[in-house]
Amino acid sequence: MRTIHIAASRSYDVLLDEGLLSRSGRLASHVLPPSRVMVISDSTVSALFGGIVLDSFARAGYKAFSFTFEPGERSKTLATLGGALNALARAGFTRGDCVAALGGGVVGDLAGFAAAVYARGIPFLQLPTTLLAAVDSSIGGKTAVNLDAGKNLAGAFWQPSLTLCDTAVMRGLPAHLQAEGAAEMIKHATLADPELFARLANPDPAVRSDNLEDTLERNLMIKRALVQADERDKGVRQKLNLGHTIGHAVETVSGHGYTHGQAVAIGLYRIARAAERMGYAGSGLSDSIRQVLTLTGLPYNCPLTADDLLTAARLDKKRDGSATTLVVPRGIGRCDLVKVDDEGLAEWFRAGSPD
Ligand SMILES: NC(=O)c1ccc[n+]([C@@H]2O[C@H](COP(=O)([O-])OP(=O)(O)OC[C@H]3O[C@@H](n4cnc5c(N)ncnc54)[C@H](O)[C@@H]3O)[C@@H](O)[C@H]2O)c1
Ligand SMILES: [Zn+2]
Repeated sequence: MRTIHIAASRSYDVLLDEGLLSRSGRLASHVLPPSRVMVISDSTVSALFGGIVLDSFARAGYKAFSFTFEPGERSKTLATLGGALNALARAGFTRGDCVAALGGGVVGDLAGFAAAVYARGIPFLQLPTTLLAAVDSSIGGKTAVNLDAGKNLAGAFWQPSLTLCDTAVMRGLPAHLQAEGAAEMIKHATLADPELFARLANPDPAVRSDNLEDTLERNLMIKRALVQADERDKGVRQKLNLGHTIGHAVETVSGHGYTHGQAVAIGLYRIARAAERMGYAGSGLSDSIRQVLTLTGLPYNCPLTADDLLTAARLDKKRDGSATTLVVPRGIGRCDLVKVDDEGLAEWFRAGSPD
């Protein structure tokens, strides 16, 4: 078992090991004395792991309840949040009780937000079941639901009390969920870890999948460093947005014809290409990124032009007035934040577009 400690406004451990879900109750009891627990999940994940987790909590002395909703981003709404809050109230939850988020990023974001606002805040645990949730959304404390006007527009910073990452679950994931998580891992490696990048880019699939715990740990360490330095996302944490400015625009303009991971992959390649052309990075960076994306089964380009994407990028909620902070890679393992106005943004987008 590996332990990664995160020191934020609340300090907590992330545990990595095979079979953690079946031990989740006992491990939780070390940080949260047995009380009521509401296991929040979607129906797919609940069918796979709900029984194991509820049973584990019951055996550890918790009074375990469950709240389940339809899978997918479309459920990440105020209506589902209301359902979860009412379920907590009906079961008589108080501040001494807790929530367990069992699922991917949708469940983690929604259940975390429910925990953040119920009774002005109760503790929660993250039990990630997708690779994306394991390497990205289950640490760092960002919780949210979507509004009609956009993604994650209502939310809170609320750190979990414990994150349990069951590596057996990660190994068993279908290929499309592996690829979604891999896009964020390639992002992390490009940001800060050339060794991790080399592992992910190894042509031998056995090397890429060996040492899963170590690969997960490296990803968590990269995110941890940025979260600890800037929990509230006002400075360096924004580096985690690498590939996402163009990526979000690809998602929006294609009407979600590309998944988040695919869109981030395209955004990563295009910003690397632009960095080369704008003199920020040496030649070869975008080729390396193209190779690792292709090996992973992710796209690196799409037919959308810079002009197609610019309108959407100008509406991105991460902008500060008319300025956008771009995360610009300078090489594998190194990147800078570069603030641009609308004209600068157009220049970068055009420099990254296919010829
Ligand atoms: N809070 C953060 O810091 C942060 C960071 C990145 C992404 N996110 C959010 O995460 C969400 C995306 O997360 P996601 O990709 O995990 O989506 P998700 O939670 O919708 O999961 C994807 C699909 O996989 C299914 N699934 C989950 N675990 C499974 C398993 N073990 N086996 C088979 N199927 C399984 C789910 O039922 C769902 O249909 C987005 O809403 C995004 O905004 C949050
Ligand atoms: Zn992302």
